[in-house]
Amino acid sequence: MRHGLYFLFFLLWDGRLLEGSNVERQLMEDLLTNYIKVLPVETPNTSLVVSFRLILFRIIELDERNQALVTNVEVVQRWNDAHLKWNASDYGGIKQTMIPYDSIWTPDIILYNSAAMDYSNRVLTTNAIVSSTGDVTLLTAAIFRSVCDVDVSYFPFDIQNCTMRFMSWTQDETRIQMKLDHNKTIELKTYIEDEEFTLESYDAKWLEVEDPCCPKPFSTVDYVIQIKRRAAFFVINYVLPMIDINVIGMTSPLSSGEKVTLGISTMLTIIFFLMSIRDVLPPSENFPLIGKFYFASICLVSMEVALAILTLFLHHLKDIRVQKMCRMLAKLSCMKEPRFRNVKGEPRENKKGKMEFTDGLPPPFLYGDKIASSRRPCWKSPVERMKKELMTGTIDTYTI
Ligand SMILES: *[C@@H]1O[C@H](CO)[C@@H](O)[C@H](O)[C@H]1NC(C)=O
Ligand SMILES: *[C@@H]1O[C@H](CO)[C@@H](O)[C@H](O)[C@H]1NC(C)=O
Ligand SMILES: *[C@@H]1O[C@H](CO)[C@@H](O)[C@H](O)[C@H]1NC(C)=O
Ligand SMILES: *[C@@H]1O[C@H](CO)[C@@H](O)[C@H](O)[C@H]1NC(C)=O
Repeated sequence: MRHGLYFLFFLLWDGRLLEGSNVERQLMEDLLTNYIKVLPVETPNTSLVVSFRLILFRIIELDERNQALVTNVEVVQRWNDAHLKWNASDYGGIKQTMIPYDSIWTPDIILYNSAAMDYSNRVLTTNAIVSSTGDVTLLTAAIFRSVCDVDVSYFPFDIQNCTMRFMSWTQDETRIQMKLDHNKTIELKTYIEDEEFTLESYDAKWLEVEDPCCPKPFSTVDYVIQIKRRAAFFVINYVLPMIDINVIGMTSPLSSGEKVTLGISTMLTIIFFLMSIRDVLPPSENFPLIGKFYFASICLVSMEVALAILTLFLHHLKDIRVQKMCRMLAKLSCMKEPRFRNVKGEPRENKKGKMEFTDGLPPPFLYGDKIASSRRPCWKSPVERMKKELMTGTIDTYTI
């Protein structure tokens, strides 16, 4: 134990353990004493070139209601600072060192279309990597919340273009020239697929943007993230059940006596579905596709209910007006006019002993019972005697 302590003491005394950090400390001291945080350019009329790259880690969410895209990214900025050069052989061959980012000059390039109140809390920068040639690399991890013009017209089959604009907050193009360092392969290497969206494209472009503040334009980099919604969730949960309910409502027979009730409950269901979708969508003028679908469903169901009520009304009318209504409906729907038979009186026995009406046709099976006759193409109602007061003349007319 004691020998161990002696040994450690000897090592420290010898200075071999401290050598590395001593040299680095010396280097840091030499670099930072008298360092003034100023734009590192030789002459006032040259601009500093800052190369810019945005590495996409994840799309955290697309906030449709507040029109914002939240992403987890890493910003890589590189530039050359002539005041941070050293001769590696003077410092034990150290070619690269880390300097706390706030002790040197850094460009004030920010996300221009940020939609966050707490911008500074969302970015994390620790050290700048400085090499002996004076090249500085600044890595910033960030969770950006950028303004994105969400267009939900095709929801849930929509594709969104979200732009993230980066530019210097104060230094125009004569001071800072941004250079695009875009390479999709590198920038999407660590990208984690999102569950809600697929990344359609990831592009960047360089441009000059005028700002109302200043006479000179700003050098700008735009990253355009194009994402496509995975529609399966909405199709399975919001579209298919709706189609199902509609089909059931449409095909349920009128004679079940539940058609009107079913129609009304279907409408309530649609309204419920619409309510739950509404939470997702921004209140925009563009009516989303799914809304149109629900609207069409509501129209369809309303029509169904109205027709069911009309049919029930006709069913219970059972007199000469039914014929008129039937003819009118046939005309309206361009169908063949139904053929009605006007017969006089009850069926009577003919010469052969069979029951028949005055027009020579036999009475339907189970005549007099409340059964549906299949002969009439327009509507189905039990064969019953019509009321006398509606008839013209004195002829007893039956509708079969
Ligand atoms: C600015 O640049 C011009 C050439 O483009 C040069 O002639 C002039 O001397 C420069 N001015 C200064 C102050 O360096
Ligand atoms: C670096 O320093 C070494 C010795 O101190 C010298 O020989 C060499 O020329 C220097 N290199 C530069 C680029 O100044
Ligand atoms: C999105 O951007 C692509 C090109 O990057 C363009 O073709 C498309 O029209 C844009 N879509 C919208 C909705 O702006
Ligand atoms: C992007 O980076 C990859 C991997 O480093 C490289 O193979 C490719 O050539 C680069 N593409 C461009 C356009 O620079």
